[in-house]
Amino acid sequence: MSRNLLKSNVVEKLLRKKSPDELISESKKSGLKKTLNAFDLIVLGVGAIIGTGIFSLSGIAINGDIHAGPSFMLSIIIASFVCLFSALSYAEFAAMIPVAGSGYTYTYSVMGEFAAWIMGWLLILEYAIGNITVAKSWSYYWFNLLQGFDFLPDIIKNPKYWMFEFHLFGDVHLDIHIPALLLLTAITYLLYKGVEESAKTAALMVFLKIAVIALFVIVGAFYVKPEHWVPFAPGGMKGILQGTFIILLAYVGFDAVSTAAEETKNPKRDIPIGIVGSLFICSLVYVAVAAVLTGIMPWNIVDPGAPIAEALRYVNQGWIAGFIAAGALAGLTSVLLVLQLGVSRILLSMARDNLLPPILGSIHERHKTPHIVTIAVGAFVAFGTLFLSVKSAAQIANIGTLIAFSMVSLGVIILRKTDPNRPRSFKVPLVPYVPALGILCSLYIIYKGVEGNMHVVISFFVWMLMGIIVYFSYGFKQNTIAKKEEKSNVVELAKVRE
Ligand code: ALA
Repeated sequence: MSRNLLKSNVVEKLLRKKSPDELISESKKSGLKKTLNAFDLIVLGVGAIIGTGIFSLSGIAINGDIHAGPSFMLSIIIASFVCLFSALSYAEFAAMIPVAGSGYTYTYSVMGEFAAWIMGWLLILEYAIGNITVAKSWSYYWFNLLQGFDFLPDIIKNPKYWMFEFHLFGDVHLDIHIPALLLLTAITYLLYKGVEESAKTAALMVFLKIAVIALFVIVGAFYVKPEHWVPFAPGGMKGILQGTFIILLAYVGFDAVSTAAEETKNPKRDIPIGIVGSLFICSLVYVAVAAVLTGIMPWNIVDPGAPIAEALRYVNQGWIAGFIAAGALAGLTSVLLVLQLGVSRILLSMARDNLLPPILGSIHERHKTPHIVTIAVGAFVAFGTLFLSVKSAAQIANIGTLIAFSMVSLGVIILRKTDPNRPRSFKVPLVPYVPALGILCSLYIIYKGVEGNMHVVISFFVWMLMGIIVYFSYGFKQNTIAKKEEKSNVVELAKVRE
């Protein structure tokens, strides 16, 4: 009898929820200023989205070992649809529960604590491991930019003095990118000092990156030769789908819009516009870049490191290539800032819910920033750059992203059943079909994407196993609700034993 009670007690604890109303009333106490409108949200979204995906991973998808070639255009379109299905679910949640915390918070309210923990752990993967890709791509564009300056000494502009690779064992290499490490230190310092400065810097960088992408598309369009689009799909269907899998990271960040819900004037209307609008704009930009990039030069000589800048060098537009490299650096920096900020805020929410040690939730007295978690995240990403390649980091992050997307879609289906009358200012059409399609597409893309990449799957499972161990050895025992419940359960158990 008492064993059954204990068992049901464990299940109850794993499933304990925070109701949407509880979340909304908690958020009202946060006192955040409501200043953002739909346009600000679209800028925020585009700022978080356009980065290493299009500036670097495009090269790996077209001509790395994936060989999508010109069919990369299709990879981009498929990835847009996969993200759109999930974006609609994010929009429904964010308009209905306009609080910070995004997928982690939604999952807490619908599927309970354990699923929320898994979601948080997946989001760390999506943002922090994703940022390993961003930081290393930054190194490639840095040297690409420097190489345009003939007067610089070799010791400054030659990557061989700044990037080192040592073979450790098997497939494992120690890969030291000094520029990436310096950049991460600078970003961590900026975030440690304060978010306001970071937000202003990010806005300027968003503008720069949009400008250079427009420059690339306009100038590049004059050099497009349709014969470069033949053969269209050198890697066949496998190339297209593996291209979709790797380029998914290019769309990560639209969910960042939902984290700003608490600071939005009219979240019910503006959040769906911000999420779907920024995704739509970025999809159009990506298709245009993919068409120009594969049209300028034969697919099999596209540069896997800094493809956009190199494509313009190929058509002897070295000067413009220099601007592109500078803009790409700004763009990558803005993504790094937003995602580092995002992951530290998610960890902060988890620490506040007592799922992580409270020290991670502590706020710096003077700077008013979560300094410990900010430094921890910076150190984690820097450490990761030493062991993961751009491609492997992107693939691992993408598994996390696609599963996180699926959980949010599942959340929409569940909440429509369990709480059908809750007012929803934005509704995903044709529930459960559209979210279910989102889940199926996400799982299919993972299945196709990891083919031949067992090390990525193993790394993912090791990460999730670590998460489950951390949860059961800490969060499960510690969290606030648990503490409240423990008292009453002791009384109940005592009664049963009697
Ligand atoms: N979407 C972001 C990028 O492509 C992560 O850099």
